[in-house]
Amino acid sequence: MPATARDAEPRTGAARSLAGGMRPLLGRLLLRRSRQHLGGGLATLPYIPRHLRLPLERTGVDPVPQLGRLRAAEPVNLFGRMFGINIWLVTGYAEAKAVLADTSNYSNDVRPFVGLDPTIPENDVGGLGFTDPPMHTRLRRILTPEFTMRRLERLRPRIVEIVDRQLDVVEAAGPVVDLVENFAFAIPFQVISELLGLPDEDRESFQRIGHARFDLTKGSAGAFDAATESRSFLLSATRKLREHPNDGLIGRIIKDQGDEIDDLELSGLADGVLTGGFETSASMLALGCLVLLQNPHYYESLRDASPRDVDAVVEELLRYLGVVQLAFPRFARHDLELFGNKVSAGDVVLLSLTGASRDDRLGSDMDTFDPSRPPTAHMAFGHGFHRCVGSELARMELRTAYPAIARRFPDMALAVRPGDLSFRRLSLVYGVEELPVRLR
Ligand code: HEM
Repeated sequence: MPATARDAEPRTGAARSLAGGMRPLLGRLLLRRSRQHLGGGLATLPYIPRHLRLPLERTGVDPVPQLGRLRAAEPVNLFGRMFGINIWLVTGYAEAKAVLADTSNYSNDVRPFVGLDPTIPENDVGGLGFTDPPMHTRLRRILTPEFTMRRLERLRPRIVEIVDRQLDVVEAAGPVVDLVENFAFAIPFQVISELLGLPDEDRESFQRIGHARFDLTKGSAGAFDAATESRSFLLSATRKLREHPNDGLIGRIIKDQGDEIDDLELSGLADGVLTGGFETSASMLALGCLVLLQNPHYYESLRDASPRDVDAVVEELLRYLGVVQLAFPRFARHDLELFGNKVSAGDVVLLSLTGASRDDRLGSDMDTFDPSRPPTAHMAFGHGFHRCVGSELARMELRTAYPAIARRFPDMALAVRPGDLSFRRLSLVYGVEELPVRLR
């Protein structure tokens, strides 16, 4: 059982010294993980104690009912302790939004909290999600121009083409096809290769590395190797593009802001785009198709829906599925109060984005998939400084892909019973392992 708010005392005495004593060990662990590049992206987590698993547990596509009960009772909850450090779980929408918007009280940079000196370059753990201003502001400013609607519009025809071509592959693989492999992973991978502007001759090897990176069947060691390989692949692609920059994201950054960023940092940003945008969009495509097939009225309606109706379905799928289950952990910079709870400096605050998007203070029947509900706020892309930089690209992919598959295969149906599907366990990005469908 999670601890209750009544247990929320400031961490003092023994607890503080235990937390302090564990710091160097945690720091070393983190550095080792980051050298292996935090595993295969956001997929599976290392060991998580049973009592801390609640925000990652689901039944089918739904969070387990205990999460909703916890949100109703305590939207900010002292959830547990690990190594003497308090761990808070925020499940309420307003409460999560407040934490995500507040960089003066909360930090994304784990290093000072685990005994690593952030001024030493060797202690870099990589990734925008683990950085604070001013470093975060600088890197994000370099990346943002590549995600404006004007830039993304240039990708739209390519996305339509990629989706159509992939539907040909699905058709050829029929009559029973796994949509995870043939549709959901294939599309975002090609879109990201296009976005980054990878040289044509490199795409095939990038595809092999990308698949290995998110192939969980090889265990964490396989994913670690692939992560290292993908970092060095992107570094050498960046070096080539420095010589002959093209119009993709890496090339444009080199042309427009090349003096402000070196190859190592730029390839790290590109790698962050891959880890941030691949698995998330793939999970949305697969789980979205599952929900649509279970709601055939909406699947059918997508065939000739207006752009507005397509948006409503996509937005509701983003809210309802909440595939990114937890935001990057936030660390309290000092002792503070969070909606009446006393949080100590160094405490970890976990934000259940899935829980927040289903908060019934946002609307009625939030556990129901209902695209006809009035426009509703959600946390699928987070909020504030670290809000998803690729949200509009993700929307563009989803708004293209769902109607296209509904038009191409109007009679598509699940080829197994829903109860026989297996879903990813204890994964930051929730997903279904396989989605076998019968095309007609
Ligand atoms: C449906 C698909 C997607 C979902 C649900 C999603 C969700 C999220 C969420 C919740 C965050 C914020 C995490 C936090 O504050 O702790 C985030 C950050 C991020 N996302 Fe996405 N994302 C998606 C697609 C993409 C795409 C397509 C890209 C790029 C091609 C991308 C790149 C990033 C990056 C670089 C960050 C880090 C931003 C920062 O820390 O400033 N994402 N995403």
